[in-house]
Amino acid sequence: MSRYDNMQYRRCGNSGVLLPGISLGLWHNFGTDAPYSNCREMILGSFDLGITHFDIANNYGPLPGSAEETFGRILKKDLLAHRDELFIASKAGFYMWEGPYGEWGSKKHIISSLDQSLKRTGLEYVDVFYHHRPDSDTPISETIDALELALRSGKALYAGISNYDPQQTKDMVEACKQRNIPLLIHQMNYNMFDRSAEDIIDVLDSFGIGSIAYCPLAQGLLTNRYLGGIPDGSRAATEGTFLKRDSVTDEKINKVKALGELAAERGQSLAQMALVWVLQRSSSAIIGASSFAQIDENVKSLDKMSFTKDELAAIDKILG
Ligand SMILES: NC(=O)c1ccc[n+]([C@@H]2O[C@H](COP(=O)([O-])OP(=O)(O)OC[C@H]3O[C@@H](n4cnc5c(N)ncnc54)[C@H](OP(=O)(O)O)[C@@H]3O)[C@@H](O)[C@H]2O)c1
Repeated sequence: MSRYDNMQYRRCGNSGVLLPGISLGLWHNFGTDAPYSNCREMILGSFDLGITHFDIANNYGPLPGSAEETFGRILKKDLLAHRDELFIASKAGFYMWEGPYGEWGSKKHIISSLDQSLKRTGLEYVDVFYHHRPDSDTPISETIDALELALRSGKALYAGISNYDPQQTKDMVEACKQRNIPLLIHQMNYNMFDRSAEDIIDVLDSFGIGSIAYCPLAQGLLTNRYLGGIPDGSRAATEGTFLKRDSVTDEKINKVKALGELAAERGQSLAQMALVWVLQRSSSAIIGASSFAQIDENVKSLDKMSFTKDELAAIDKILG
């Protein structure tokens, strides 16, 4: 059976690009602290499940840049023959190096960072290049200049934005349109516990631009990971991550338990149901993982995509 037989590919907005329903992100578990064999197993295993989209950024690690290096090493050793089957993202905008050009939205930062990302990954171009966060101190036209240069120089095939709020998104999309620069996609935090992105998705839908959800499992909360407390080695147990121990509250875990019961009635795990829920409004969900087993479980979410009205109402009631 081919790796493409079971994955669902979904159109990204009104573009020509199809994305796998589940994409893999390298924010955590691909840095210098991660065993290479596990990274390789996750990337190659994902690809064998039909995951063609890998989401990286300049600063993913730790150390910043090391996730791109890990991906580049695996690409060179195992995947170069498949380059044209892969859709690879990188980003610039968050802090990456010392001095006035190491972050935000200037043309200087964005283009220098893209050049560094290409070196670290060994790629000739990235498939999609994002401005990672809005910068109120840089004119939007300069950030667009940078994205345009990335596209025209062939260093990126498509451009995207991330973490822009609804108004910033509207301003950016309209400014790009005026200059005839296509924006492919917006990447935003979206999951059952945080629905604030729905206002952004409304804007994107009105322009035919794709949306891709990050942290679709709320960094692991929307799974069975924390049902018995905070296990060693989990993200919440790891220093320096954005999932703090005190965000694993009794209130959240009670909701997780109730959602888990509903998922079981559907014949799914909670992680699977949480991903299907996100895919109602996004082209793809970018999951993170610490093992191939998690990825394998999560991709099976696509086996049951629809919700009944009663199920959706029950979910809303649990979420409150
Ligand atoms: N644009 C942005 O600003 C931005 C911001 C954040 C993330 N992102 C992107 O989104 C990607 C995903 O973010 P995320 O890692 O927070 O996503 P997530 O899918 O919400 O959380 C991933 C974590 O959930 C746990 N998990 C996943 N599947 C599981 C399963 N089946 N059973 C039990 N636990 C499971 C694992 O935690 P353990 O590690 O504890 O096992 C895994 O590391 C990132 O890698 C990055 O590419 C983008």
